[in-house]
Amino acid sequence: MADRNRRRQGGEALGMSATLPRKSAPSPRTGGAVPWPWLDKGRRFSWLRFGVLVFFLAPGLSLLAMLATGGLGAEPWKAATRQSGELALRLLIVTLAVTPLRWIAEWPKAATLRRMLGLIALGYAALHLVLYTGHLAWDLLAVVTEIATRVYLTLGFAVLVGLCVLGWTSTDAAQARLGRRWKKLHQIAYPLTAAAVLHAFLQSKASADAAVLMAGLFVWMMAWRRLEGQWRGDGRALLALAPIAALGTAALEYAWYALATKLPAERILMANLEPDLLRPAHVVFLAAVGVAALPFLVRVGRRLAARLTRRQVRTPV
Ligand code: HEM
Repeated sequence: MADRNRRRQGGEALGMSATLPRKSAPSPRTGGAVPWPWLDKGRRFSWLRFGVLVFFLAPGLSLLAMLATGGLGAEPWKAATRQSGELALRLLIVTLAVTPLRWIAEWPKAATLRRMLGLIALGYAALHLVLYTGHLAWDLLAVVTEIATRVYLTLGFAVLVGLCVLGWTSTDAAQARLGRRWKKLHQIAYPLTAAAVLHAFLQSKASADAAVLMAGLFVWMMAWRRLEGQWRGDGRALLALAPIAALGTAALEYAWYALATKLPAERILMANLEPDLLRPAHVVFLAAVGVAALPFLVRVGRRLAARLTRRQVRTPV
């Protein structure tokens, strides 16, 4: 077990990390790059990669279609900027969730999706900046001035630059070139995500629910990373994380409203005790409980599959 954990930790990289748990030398001809995102390392079509790609690109394409057809209300560029920012942050969180998923579901293949997901997050962040430029009527000087003079935009820009660095160094060739420094570099995916969450908080208007939810999922991820190797895939430890992450979410929500707004932070905090309301802390709790059930579900699934295989072997056609 300890050995398996050590092996898994070795391959644990972050953000847009290249996906091979072991170090493989890139092919001299191609630099190890996969030419199309739906192809796997063996250059074969992968339904999994194709499905993930379509699933996560579809909201962006639908957003662009709505922008083109006037379906985004009175201030379409503003709405598109906000929605693309939300997509970028969600994808960042999804990318970081690959490592826990790989451990908890004992699904090593998940790691092969991380680079693609990270690059989609980067794509959405770049689209976010393009749409913001459109919102400012393509006035590049105004965009530069706004970014340089408003702290929350400077922060967003810094995150975008960081994501570009991760994207640039996400290839197998860069991984081989950077050696040990590569893993250290890709650890910045965590502070970058924290900064993106802060940017989302600072940009949220009356309701910060979306930012609070992302912050809560990030809290869960940070708490999961604190677990010792042997507990990381253990249902009981994962169940214990659920109230911790939910309380952390509610505490962050309270701190935000109390420190940064004039809204009644205590009333918002107490709303977490209302059974008929679905607050971000509740969603984080439910998600964490769902994740805690994963190891059990995976075991049951495997047993069923093994039983089916045995039955097929016993009953020849
Ligand atoms: C040059 C970089 C960036 C600029 C200029 C920028 C600008 C903006 C602006 C103007 C908004 C407010 C839209 C509105 O009016 O509602 C916004 C919202 C947002 N941005 Fe950015 N952003 C940048 C980078 C990023 C990055 C890298 C991320 C995440 C990876 C991000 C995530 C978000 C999110 C989640 C929101 C929505 C906040 C909410 O309403 O809940 N932004 N951004």
